[in-house]
Amino acid sequence: MYVIRAFDKTDHFIQKYFSRQKDFIIATVNQNITSRWINLVTDIFSVVTVSAAGYFGVLSTVIGGSSSNSLIGLALVWSLQINSIMSFTLRVLADTESNMNAVVRLYDYIDNNPSEKDFDEPKPEHDVWPSHGKYKIAGASYKYRPELPYVLKQISFDIKEKSKIGVVGRTGSGKSTLTLGLLRILELTQNEDGSMGNIILDNENTSDLGLHCLRQKNYHHPARPNSVHRNHQDKHGSF
Ligand SMILES: Nc1ncnc2c1ncn2[C@@H]1O[C@H](COP(=O)(O)OP(=O)(O)O)[C@@H](O)[C@H]1O
Ligand SMILES: [Mg+2]
Repeated sequence: MYVIRAFDKTDHFIQKYFSRQKDFIIATVNQNITSRWINLVTDIFSVVTVSAAGYFGVLSTVIGGSSSNSLIGLALVWSLQINSIMSFTLRVLADTESNMNAVVRLYDYIDNNPSEKDFDEPKPEHDVWPSHGKYKIAGASYKYRPELPYVLKQISFDIKEKSKIGVVGRTGSGKSTLTLGLLRILELTQNEDGSMGNIILDNENTSDLGLHCLRQKNYHHPARPNSVHRNHQDKHGSF
């Protein structure tokens, strides 16, 4: 509340609230009207069935004279139950369908979300990798989503082996993005001219490695002031 008032966004949030409220009311009214309509249809259907049972019962007695009263009674009793059975069935069907929305959404996430590449394969050529820490980054570009602008655009630089470097830049210049790129949390994006950049670490193209191999050998110390130092030293709990 204080934050909303401080930024003078009260009207904005009131409008947003009313528009959400309107959507909710439209959905509820539609649902109620549909369920009334279905009740009406099932009522009409059951009236027709009960009338038909009674009418044909009487007709068979009048014309054929052979039908038994108890059978007509049985037919009437069963046809009277059709109304409740049908509305129950329809309600269960509708409930099942609407509850299954969650499952449909899960399937949508499973099928349409690009997932990360393989974790374990391929492995680096040498068991001890990286042995020197020599980076060769050539024409690497990154975007957070295909429709967004480039965050890093064809950056190229080399890092000499066993050297300490610092990346400097103002907020939003892409320092964190570079770290995400080195760990392949963000994958390389195609450059504007259609070419792909590459990142070579000790003669291995990092794009060709299994993600676990890459991330276990490259440490990323997040700058969290409250995290315990021990966690940083042994990130994967291997020692
Ligand atoms: N998750 C994200 N989705 C979309 N854009 C992002 C995301 N994270 C960062 N950016 C954008 O990428 C640019 C670089 O951000 P970042 O790498 O965090 O900069 P730095 O760490 O140098 O402050 C910024 O313009 C920022 O808006
Ligand atoms: Mg940052």
